[in-house]
Amino acid sequence: MSHEPLANWNGEEMPLGEVRVSVLDRGYLFGDGVYEVLRVYQGQPFLEAEHLGRFRRSLDKIAIVCDVDRLIERMRATLEHSEVQEGLIYMQVTRGTAPRTHRFPPSDVTPNELIYVEGFDVEPYAEAREQGAAAITVPDLRWKRCDIKSVNLLANCLAAQQAAEQGCVEALLVHEDGTVTEGSHTSVFGVRNGNVLTSPLSPSILPGITRGLVTRLADRCDISLHETSFTADEISQLDELFLTGTTAEVVPLVSVDGNPINDGRPGPITRRLQRAYQESVAETLSNS
Ligand code: PDD
Repeated sequence: MSHEPLANWNGEEMPLGEVRVSVLDRGYLFGDGVYEVLRVYQGQPFLEAEHLGRFRRSLDKIAIVCDVDRLIERMRATLEHSEVQEGLIYMQVTRGTAPRTHRFPPSDVTPNELIYVEGFDVEPYAEAREQGAAAITVPDLRWKRCDIKSVNLLANCLAAQQAAEQGCVEALLVHEDGTVTEGSHTSVFGVRNGNVLTSPLSPSILPGITRGLVTRLADRCDISLHETSFTADEISQLDELFLTGTTAEVVPLVSVDGNPINDGRPGPITRRLQRAYQESVAETLSNS
């Protein structure tokens, strides 16, 4: 039996199921808010500074004023009180509760701040990481500021659902220009002739924290990595394909739209980067 996640709602700690939020919350009405997800290993948040840096930038980009240092203190306290060893931290800040008008509410309206810590019973991507997983391609229907980690995730949800209905772990999003931007909730990497390829940072993708780590790990492993996109048509020519994300870590993709990638098994560069990821977690834990 899993424990109910422990939440901190606007400074008050309570079981997640007891949090009550007004229907006038702007996150609920407009998707007017941003969020962050961190992985917890052995009770420690992984890549905390990187996630919180991105959270500050997301807040700045949509002009929500929020005391992130205070949130960090709350996050650490909630994590400690939750006693979660393996799991995730979810943080979300919306522009607050106010009568419904599209323009921002008066400046005395305060943001709504949610944190919760959830322990894993079963590691969500363990099997996909080991065996390799299948994906589909779908058109990227999102807006033009995907670099903001906004709670507006409708296009992502529709894509993820389409993938799930076809028994796949992820939907690869294909931009109007034919390039694969990223997944519905992961970053995407291809391998061609020994070179790792991934979309360059731009407003068309989320600057994935795991993406950033994997680019550093590739460098450390002497694997050449280029921030260059590949197109959906080029997928069939790839030697390897993999996803990265906070909960996914590094997941090999072994088929796309029903066609195998190479011999349909996880490739050596993906396996090397999976090992480097685990080494990086172990190294971080031994230094904490
Ligand atoms: N998703 N791209 C998108 C669209 C994402 O939503 C995510 C993360 C990523 C990977 O980013 P990171 O390595 O920082 O987790 C890429 C989170 C985990 C989620 O929405 O649950």
